[in-house]
Parts: sequence; structure tokens; C-alpha cells
Amino acid sequence: VEPAARLAREHESPSAVAAEPRLDLEALEREARDRLDPSAYDYYAAGAGDETTLRANLAAWERLRLRPRILRDVSGVSTATTVLGTPIAAPVLVAPMALQRLLHPTGELELRRAGEAAGTLVAISTRSSTPIPEVGAASQAPWWFQVYILRDRGLTEELVRRARDGGAKALLLTGDTPILGGKRRPVEFDVPDEWVMPGLSTPDGMPVRDQSPGNFQDASITFANIVRLADLSGLPVVVKGVLRADDARRCVDAGAAGVVVSNHGGRQLDGAVATAEALPEVVDAVGGSCEVYVDGGIRRGTDVLRALALGARAVLVGRPVAWGLATGGAAGAERVLAGLALELAEALALVGATAPDDVGPDLVRPAVAD
Ligand SMILES: Cc1cc2nc3c(=O)[nH]c(=O)nc-3n(C[C@H](O)[C@H](O)[C@H](O)COP(=O)(O)O)c2cc1C
Repeated sequence: VEPAARLAREHESPSAVAAEPRLDLEALEREARDRLDPSAYDYYAAGAGDETTLRANLAAWERLRLRPRILRDVSGVSTATTVLGTPIAAPVLVAPMALQRLLHPTGELELRRAGEAAGTLVAISTRSSTPIPEVGAASQAPWWFQVYILRDRGLTEELVRRARDGGAKALLLTGDTPILGGKRRPVEFDVPDEWVMPGLSTPDGMPVRDQSPGNFQDASITFANIVRLADLSGLPVVVKGVLRADDARRCVDAGAAGVVVSNHGGRQLDGAVATAEALPEVVDAVGGSCEVYVDGGIRRGTDVLRALALGARAVLVGRPVAWGLATGGAAGAERVLAGLALELAEALALVGATAPDDVGPDLVRPAVAD
């Protein structure tokens, strides 16, 4: 159901509210934790180091107070928008997350279906535990492929080709992971070989293993890889992990079609700036020359609204969708996405806006101190 239509229905019939419960992401995470293997839960929940950035992401959105407008005729609210020209029901995309078969037996496939049901776009990780051709065929809905450039360039190129042939609409080049940020939570599971680059083999014809050197991320990549990736694939390249104005400008100069303000959900450099704090300087730096997205700690429709107000075109959501997938497969993930869209519709109406394009910086007050 279109979020705006559901909102209208709830207004006309208050009993509909009870029939379709609102999002309780904390309860959902507890349920996921109870169901999952403890290591799988910790792998998804973890941040790097002391998890200060993980916590800061959430706190920074909360600190941005809203300045609602009144008497604006919000009888017709729509959350619909576009990203790189692709229409979506709400500006809430699914962030790329590795190894989704840890969450559900048919992980990535479920998520593609959830994206279709919610009318939004899903990003699928290089670390997909499902073969990319299957991911592509799982649904007609638009999707993006997240790229880690691996030491084995042949492997990287084959993955990108499979993603393009499988209908990926853009590549999301993650720039913040030259090496993996250290986590303190004990994550002790062996990744089954069949979940590692499924369907691909090493130059000597062996299955790729988690510890195969060619499967490691290449720490030597630079801005020059943006254009190479675009040339190889013919697809727009969006760079993920931007936290600074100078980097955002360099991405644009190197041909990026978009940037994602992200600190990898607090999983890379602990102590890194919260994304709500970094977003304004990036928006300012690109000055409308490419789309800007943001992720990290988005948990409510009001957080989506805050991000739009600071100039984001859309947000990406990670862990809440993972908990939905773990507890209810495609339907569970779809409930999270639809719930956030509904909350956004409500937030738009309550700040006196009728659409994502109707949201500007006047709606937020500069952050107040802790
Ligand atoms: C378990 C897990 C795995 C992830 N794997 C990837 C990945 O493979 N590639 C990537 O670019 N980002 C990855 N991310 C980061 C997400 O794309 C996103 O930036 C982050 O989760 C957003 O924050 P949130 O979880 O607070 O919404 C991962 C995040 C989690 C939680």
C-alpha cells in the first residue's frame, strides 16, 4: 500500500492502526537476536573498536530538532521520488550488507523480493552469499551492485559484468574499506565456501575461499578507479563512504554520479564523524552536481526527513532491514521498509510538506549539544 494511502486510511479508521502495528525496531532486534546464531547476530550488530561511531550515528540524528510549519495544506502527501532517474515509492533504499544467508536461508533473494514489494531499490554486496545471476533474476525491481575492488581484478570484473548483465542499474563503489575495521565482539564463524563469491573461481580454477588472497580488498585503490569502473560497466558509479567536502569534490571530478555519506554503519574507523554531522559539508561541496545519499543510524521516518532536510536525495538503511529479514524473510524486511515510508509520510504532513522535494534546511534547527 502506498504510504500516503495507508496514512489516509489510518486517519479515517483508527482501528486500522491496531491492525497494522507501527515499527518497534528495538523489539525486532531482540527477536532477531533470539533467533540467530550468536555470532551471526554479533557480526551484524557490531561496530568497530569501542563502537563510539555506531552510537554517534544514532545520537546525531536525534540531536537535530525539527521546525514544523503549520497551515500548509498537507491533504495530499506523497513520499515518491527518484534516484538516478529510477522511480521509487519512498527515499529509503536498502544498504548493501554482506552474507545475508547468515540471516535467512535465501538471504539476498528474499531482500530483492522485499525491495520489489516495498517499491524501492536494494543494494547487493560484493560479499553476496547468493550467486549474482540468481540475485539479478530474483525480481524485476531495480537494484544496485556494491563493488569492493579485490586484489584479483579478474574476479572483480567478472562480478561487475554479472551484475550489469543481471540488470543492476548502478554500481556503488565502497571507498571506506581499504582494510577491515577491527571489531571487538567475538565473531567466530567459518564462512561456508559456497557463500564466498558463489559461482566464481580463482585463476587456477579453484573455488574462491574467504582467505584466498585474491578475494581480499585492494588497499591501493584511488579516485582513478571510479572512471575505470564506469568504463568497464557502462553504469553510473556512486561512491560510498564519503565524509568530507574535499573527497566529495574529487569523486565528482572523477565522474561519480552520486556519493553516499557513510561511515559504514560505524564498522570501519571508530571515532569517525557521525553521518548527520558530515552530510551538510558534502551537500555544500557537490553543490547539486550529483545526488547525495546518506546512511548510518536511520531508524525513524523523522530521521529520513532530517536527512532530506540536510540535502540528501535518499537514505540507505542497514541493520533494521537485516533484523526484518532474519525474523520474517522478504515479508519481514518489507514491513520495515513500508513502516519507515509510512513514518516519513506522517512526518512530512506534520512538518507541513507534501513531498520529499518540498523539504529544505529550514525544517531543522542546528544540532543542540548533548
Ligand atoms: C553486517 C553488515 C555488513 C555490511 N556489509 C557491507 C558491504 O559488504 N559493503 C558495504 O559497502 N557496506 C556494508 N555494510 C555497511 C552498510 O552498507 C551501511 O553503510 C550501514 O549498515 C548503514 O548503517 P545502519 O546499519 O546503521 O543503517 C555492512 C553493514 C553491516 C551491518
